[in-house]
Amino acid sequence: MEASSAPMNAPVHDRIAVIDFGGQYAHLIATKVRRLHVLAEIRQPDDPIEAFDGYRGVILSGSPALASADEGGLARAVLDLPVPILGFCFGHQEVAKRYGGQVEHCQREYGPARLTVSGSSPIFAGVPAESTVWMSHGDTVVALGDGFSEVGTSRVPGDDHPHRNAAIADDARRRYGFQFHPEVDDSEFGEKMLENFAVGICGCRPTWTMHRYVEEEVAKIRAQAAGKGVFLLASGGVDSTVCAKLFAEALGADHLHLLHVDNGLMRKDESRRVVESLKGLGVSQNLHFIDATDDFMASLAGLVEPEAKRRAIGDTYVKVFEREAKRLGLEQMLLGQGTIYPDTIETGGTKRADVIKTHHNRVPIIEQMIAEGRVIEPLHELYKSEVRELGAKLGIADELLWRHPFPGPGLGIRLLCSDGSLPPGWGTRAESDAAIREIAQGAGLTGHLLPVRSVGVKADLRSYEMPVWLSGDASFERVLETATRLFKRVPGINRAVIDLGGRPLASPRPRPATITRERLELLQEADAIVMAALARHGQLRAIWQCPTVALPLEVDGCGGELIVVRPIHSERGMTAKPAELPAAVVADLRRVLDLPGVVGLGLDVTTKPPGTIEWE
Ligand code: XMP
Repeated sequence: MEASSAPMNAPVHDRIAVIDFGGQYAHLIATKVRRLHVLAEIRQPDDPIEAFDGYRGVILSGSPALASADEGGLARAVLDLPVPILGFCFGHQEVAKRYGGQVEHCQREYGPARLTVSGSSPIFAGVPAESTVWMSHGDTVVALGDGFSEVGTSRVPGDDHPHRNAAIADDARRRYGFQFHPEVDDSEFGEKMLENFAVGICGCRPTWTMHRYVEEEVAKIRAQAAGKGVFLLASGGVDSTVCAKLFAEALGADHLHLLHVDNGLMRKDESRRVVESLKGLGVSQNLHFIDATDDFMASLAGLVEPEAKRRAIGDTYVKVFEREAKRLGLEQMLLGQGTIYPDTIETGGTKRADVIKTHHNRVPIIEQMIAEGRVIEPLHELYKSEVRELGAKLGIADELLWRHPFPGPGLGIRLLCSDGSLPPGWGTRAESDAAIREIAQGAGLTGHLLPVRSVGVKADLRSYEMPVWLSGDASFERVLETATRLFKRVPGINRAVIDLGGRPLASPRPRPATITRERLELLQEADAIVMAALARHGQLRAIWQCPTVALPLEVDGCGGELIVVRPIHSERGMTAKPAELPAAVVADLRRVLDLPGVVGLGLDVTTKPPGTIEWE
């Protein structure tokens, strides 16, 4: 905190309360407000009303709950506070309902929409008449109470029906609501809207700074790890690399041991490269390496379901870590992890959030170790972009900081598995396929469902649904528009993939497959071709991350793998836009089709939401 001449007991900074209803982005709202130098704090809906004393404004987050089902009603007392209030998504619907508006479960929208603003509400000061915003909802405000007016409508690209009440305002009462999420990076003028609220309408002075973040974290690490030291699981990725530097700064490199585990699920040749780069970091005098491929393969044997695979991988990390700590006589040390905030929120780590997917560093054994004070995770409040900023402050080289994120479970969650059975709903897919065909035809494409499932996030809830396979010639923009329309119109889908290989997928069926060394090697080869193509054409920095995924399918009676490439743009991994690949890169990618057993090649064109970045 900064020095202040404020009277005793008066808060040093003007503050905004962010009520966390369990939405995926509640913590991100607070981060984005703090980036405007206004202090924002997370509060719970069931906090006593006195807990809101002294805040100059309140923001209500989204939620996996439905305002239309009246699961809401949690914010009533807060809504009567004499300060400005702004709600997003579920929070927007709660604001509308409190003042006589009506909410219905009807209009689904996931990903981009065009917002058109009207009137002269201060909430949109400096925001252009049209801009892109990000949606993730199934409920909508269909009628407004007295005093409120519609100040924005939205439209999904290529769709003629505007979504009414996308933004509502009652300037006299200082109550506002947005159906969209201004806090996510993909909402173009979201920060301006947050600034209009926090600074313009609530009158907060922008006095808070992130100053001395490193010093504060260093002090915390010293307090927690004093006399123990840290044994850090170092994958070689951005997060654990920044962690290593921070621990060395706090404790001295001699109190830090690094363990790189080759789980056998890494990219081709990756572990060798990681060990080299950790050596070059200057903090790894105690670097240990263990090839634990056999442990991981044994733990994954026979598993098919994504969450079961994720838990097996997370548990095996702990088992290997504990075995190594014992062997090296380091059991008293704390387990260091480069956990960042999205790992926590996606694992359902706040009171009301849904479990989207269990991140490897958030399996139950680790939660137990955290409760016992045996884990240290200095980045757990940060997002990837803030980790990179911190890494730069610590003097880490750009080529390490700007590496693509790679998940702890590695290729284990990019190699889809199956017991050979068809997904639920496959037998009654005629209606969905007809709707898909009609929407695809509008863009000169053909389309049908694929008999596999992948993980997604829709209106703050986990989804596990089928993708749509599209083929034909259309511009990238038309393909994206088609995908967005499909997600809006066709229930039960969360992903769209466009054919790059030109091979017809005749009568595709799932084939039984688990994680085997042969399948891993094939995926490693495919992934190496993709990453080399991006590097060769200077695209590595332009693209935030590019998972390559293998789907076990039988096509025309022949068993094999359908390879899907997922290049995306993102900033924090909480939302994502599909990235367009230059034609020269696509031409290089087609080499994947020459790998034995590959039945086809597709490009994932799904925004997050409704898909997640990884398929599992
Ligand atoms: P999703 O797939 O949830 O991914 O959209 C968001 C970001 O998180 C990464 N990811 C993980 N990282 N352990 C990690 O260290 C995990 O278990 C894990 N799961 C997903 C993903 O690669 C993306 O960057």
